Amino acid sequence: MAETLHIPPSSSKEETYLSLLPQLKALIEGETDAIANMANISAALKQTFGFFWAGFYIVKKDELVLGPFQGTIACTRIKYGKGVCGTAWKEKRTVIVKDVNQFPGHIACDAASRSEIVVPLFDRNNVVAVLDIDSEHLGHFDETDALYLRQITQLLEDKITI
Ligand code: SME
Repeated sequence: MAETLHIPPSSSKEETYLSLLPQLKALIEGETDAIANMANISAALKQTFGFFWAGFYIVKKDELVLGPFQGTIACTRIKYGKGVCGTAWKEKRTVIVKDVNQFPGHIACDAASRSEIVVPLFDRNNVVAVLDIDSEHLGHFDETDALYLRQITQLLEDKITI
């Protein structure tokens, strides 16, 4: 397992993701526990990009329940179809929100959050968890984040036995 992340300084966002991906793969390779891997991926994303909040919500019955994360304390339960996370779960797709104040039903766990991206994780065709990332900057996330965060969640999908 790689113990330190190495990201070349002054890399573009895409270069940073490309450098991070194989390191994340190595980081979780020998570990089958989903919680342990979600914890390290949250830490790696926060450490690499300085995101305001990065973490997971896990599907339990009809709700999402807070999982491993890095950032300020957060809402513990989100109903199916509610907020950005519940919408990504219901619609089975990545949701990018450029301005959380313009997203009807956005759940404000922390007023400092201004934009957000949520990427669902699948077991076959079922959503089993979501990766949620918040930024204190408006319009922080775009299709590049969607592309590479999806690849990061795919690293985890093989290992999920929740
Ligand atoms: N904003 C999310 C709730 C989770 S927190 O951002 C950590 C939502 O609307 O689903």
